[in-house]
Amino acid sequence: MSQMKGKTLVITGATKGIGEAIATKFASQGVNIAFTYNSNAEIANKLAQKWEKEYGIKAKAYPLNILEPDEFKPLFEAIDADFDRVDFFVSNAMIYGRAVVGGYGKFMRLKPKGLNNIYTATVNAFVVGSQEAAKRMEKTGGGSIVTMSSTGNLIYIDNYAGHGTNKAAVEAMSRYAAVELGEMNIRVNAVSGGPIDTDALKAFVNYEEVKAETIKRSALNRMGQPEDIAGTVYFLCTEEASWITGQTIVVDGGTTFR
Ligand SMILES: NC(=O)c1ccc[n+]([C@@H]2O[C@H](COP(=O)([O-])OP(=O)(O)OC[C@H]3O[C@@H](n4cnc5c(N)ncnc54)[C@H](OP(=O)(O)O)[C@@H]3O)[C@@H](O)[C@H]2O)c1
Repeated sequence: MSQMKGKTLVITGATKGIGEAIATKFASQGVNIAFTYNSNAEIANKLAQKWEKEYGIKAKAYPLNILEPDEFKPLFEAIDADFDRVDFFVSNAMIYGRAVVGGYGKFMRLKPKGLNNIYTATVNAFVVGSQEAAKRMEKTGGGSIVTMSSTGNLIYIDNYAGHGTNKAAVEAMSRYAAVELGEMNIRVNAVSGGPIDTDALKAFVNYEEVKAETIKRSALNRMGQPEDIAGTVYFLCTEEASWITGQTIVVDGGTTFR
């Protein structure tokens, strides 16, 4: 705990699901949390208060739309005013609903606008967010960056071509970042999750089917939960992972191989 106490995590999309579980894990270990929300301002502010009260850390929520990469610069400037350092950056937020029309669907229904939105939300958000984070990490001697990926770039998932290809792209981008940011003592990795029971998965038209299939495929005979991902993201940011960079860690309950 002492090694992480007083450091700062910046994470996008921590109002619920995997982002909330990651932020909770870091907060429980004494890490200060600067996190973003998109539509759920009230929930975000309540979470900040809860983490501050329960863990005695500083937590603050900021608005961000990952479809507008220009928002990252002012976001980090606002974080600079509230936090004295940035040690970790987790690119986690993901779009859904209208923004993914033409991006979430069968191959013959894919449209450039929907696909471009997913690219912006996945790859551009990782690049621009990591650039801003890296400038701050360099000042304090290094840090760790993690992007969320998914096993939908390794195995076929219905309607997931748009997301799956962009997760493959962000994994490749994270390896390039790892090589070039290494000289600043910044490590960059991806965590590729199997299906996790969150609102994003509930938005799948065949949610019940995916859930049943996941339990069937999992070597552990159960669905993935947000907390199953959080521990690996946390580990990658600790000194225990000091020589891990440019990697994708698959956290899938054994679902991908089967
Ligand atoms: N669930 C899975 O099965 C699974 C598996 C592997 C990887 N992943 C990845 O894990 C990450 C988190 O997924 P999740 O399942 O936890 O999602 P989720 O529960 O739906 O949460 C999505 C988060 O993204 C934020 N968000 C939505 N639209 C946004 C926008 N336009 N700009 C900025 N933020 C926005 C939401 O904020 P508001 O609530 O404020 O709107 C929320 O905090 C994603 O990268 C996803 O691809 C998920």
